[in-house]
Amino acid sequence: MRVLFVCLGNICRSPTAEGVMRKLVGEAGLADRIELDSAGTGAWHVGAKPDPRATAAALKGGFELSGRARQVTGADFDDFDMILAMDRFNASELLGMAPGGAAAEKVRLLREFDPASSAEWNLDVPDPYEGGPRGFSHALELIEAACRGLIDELRRREPVA
Ligand code: 4NP
Repeated sequence: MRVLFVCLGNICRSPTAEGVMRKLVGEAGLADRIELDSAGTGAWHVGAKPDPRATAAALKGGFELSGRARQVTGADFDDFDMILAMDRFNASELLGMAPGGAAAEKVRLLREFDPASSAEWNLDVPDPYEGGPRGFSHALELIEAACRGLIDELRRREPVA
């Protein structure tokens, strides 16, 4: 199972989701069965490390961020089983790029997997880039809750023998 997390710049939210999920996947004993990556719909930050504010918020929560920013490509729709957008704008961009119906079905909002969010109409992880540190800790909270729900979903799909 291969999961790609997508935001706009691939320096704040999606590397956070990747780092959180990497730790949770390890704790769940699924590290050899689930591959993770992240990418951005935009190209501005290609090659950059995660934003230091995102890295600091993640570290406070016990998560490490890694990797360098890259842009989503058409090949990602073949290479990944799930493509999880941080907000509706990312999802809309992804749906516009999807080469067909099966590819489009891989695109979901990350927060759909947070069981506590089912009654909410807004499933965005808000973009923290222009704001202060509180935006980054809030994004981390939303991402962690969704990733815990995602782990439960992946456990159902990939039961450990
Ligand atoms: P991200 O945050 O999409 O969570 O990585 C952003 C990073 C950069 C920009 C916007 C959002 N930007 O406009 O450069």
